[in-house]
Amino acid sequence: MVVGIVRAVAPTLPKVGKLRMFTLHLDANLIDVVSKEPETVAISPEEEEEILALAKDPWVHRKIIRSIAPSIYGYEHIKEAIMYLLFGGVSKHLPDITIRGEMNILMVGDPGTAKSQLLQYVAQVAPRGLYTSGRGTTAAGLTAAVLRERASGGMTLEAGALVLADKGVACIDEIDKMRAEDRVAIHEAMEQHTVSVAKGGIVATLNARTAILAAANPTLGRYNNYQNVAENISLPVTILSRFDLIFVLKDEPDKDKDAEMTEHILNLHKTGAAPIEPPIRPELLRKYISYTKNLKPVLTPDALDRLKDFYLTMRSASETEGTPIAITARQLESLVRVAEARARVAYQKEISVEDAEASIVIMKRSLGEVGIDISSKKFDIDVIMTGKPKSLRDKLQVIIGILVEMEREKGMVERSAFLEKLEIESGLSPAEAERLIGQLVKEGTIYSPREGYLKKT
Ligand SMILES: Nc1ncnc2c1ncn2[C@@H]1O[C@H](COP(=O)(O)OP(=O)(O)OP(=O)(O)O)[C@@H](O)[C@H]1O
Ligand SMILES: [Mg+2]
Repeated sequence: MVVGIVRAVAPTLPKVGKLRMFTLHLDANLIDVVSKEPETVAISPEEEEEILALAKDPWVHRKIIRSIAPSIYGYEHIKEAIMYLLFGGVSKHLPDITIRGEMNILMVGDPGTAKSQLLQYVAQVAPRGLYTSGRGTTAAGLTAAVLRERASGGMTLEAGALVLADKGVACIDEIDKMRAEDRVAIHEAMEQHTVSVAKGGIVATLNARTAILAAANPTLGRYNNYQNVAENISLPVTILSRFDLIFVLKDEPDKDKDAEMTEHILNLHKTGAAPIEPPIRPELLRKYISYTKNLKPVLTPDALDRLKDFYLTMRSASETEGTPIAITARQLESLVRVAEARARVAYQKEISVEDAEASIVIMKRSLGEVGIDISSKKFDIDVIMTGKPKSLRDKLQVIIGILVEMEREKGMVERSAFLEKLEIESGLSPAEAERLIGQLVKEGTIYSPREGYLKKT
């Protein structure tokens, strides 16, 4: 709230004199913060009744999922995740640290799988939602820009997209097509939920408690099932590991599904309306989300035990078999966030075992889609955390080891002899060895000094 006097001032320019144009100035003598919440959507008493009745509905979760982008066919699990993102978890403010409550979700998928449409929808329905596309998005545009004011020559700070969407949802499309220099700007916002600028005499830290829903295409246009997620998408692992859930949308022909989807899309074009009537109107859904934002669900002992059990089983599974670490503390926090969001959806103060269970199911699904180490068929979080599954790192290590050993004898290593030795010593088939060597060459770890020869860099 600002109290003051508005003045119309005609600016004077040197040589030109007084302009015949006025600019508005506001001389304020009081500035007060009325609310820090997202623009409080006005909810009438009737609507509040409707919201509370809906919250008591045992099928409320299903109803909301069915109301999310009803024109888009399928993707139930992604719509469920979007529901959790819209409602969000509870942020914790401890004396020493703050833990974010908002979730980040990434969709990686083939072209034409309705990613952009989903993002547009979320930006519309979420309180304080906004949509931006990777191309043409700069670091300053995302975080904050320091600008020189034309009239007075002073410096002003202009909030970027992530700051504007504070306590809302920022939808970033085509995140893989952003320039890497611009993309690093979102690191801080994604985990610490702040944006810091130190430029032109202005040093400031702004809040950016924003949930991020991002979409990307696979590097080679289509998702390659035989490569893991980090190889499939050209995003640095530092960003990948900050997403709570990652989903892969594959456009694979499937007779029954295709028939249904064709009918769905054609019906939509014929009638000009969504084939399924959403159980909850978009305006009401938006108000419902706002209404539940103040609720802070807490874990019940049973739910806590369930999450603990799951986490410890996954951890110990990797301990006993000497296999890769399946899951890390980041995933544990994500699990809690999803469970909190689910309790919020039903407007429950306590997180039940079902909430914990649902959060485990969706986490497993997301991990399964991206984290599975294809060669050992085990969950391996290293895929997201380091970009390479453990078994692959072991194999690459073996290849480099043998190469160095052969180099010591001959200087340069003949490719065919190298492949032969790899097959005898470590059982790698020539085809796979070729693929891995290709990968190492691309990375710059080894190179080919002459046609048919290899050497370590
Ligand atoms: N499951 C679906 N249900 C309904 N419509 C769909 C579905 N999948 C794709 N479409 C339609 O296909 C068109 C393309 O979708 P969209 O532009 O969102 O693709 P995209 O995933 O963003 O692709 P790109 O990666 O190339 O940006 C849209 O008009 C969308 O309505
Ligand atoms: Mg798109």
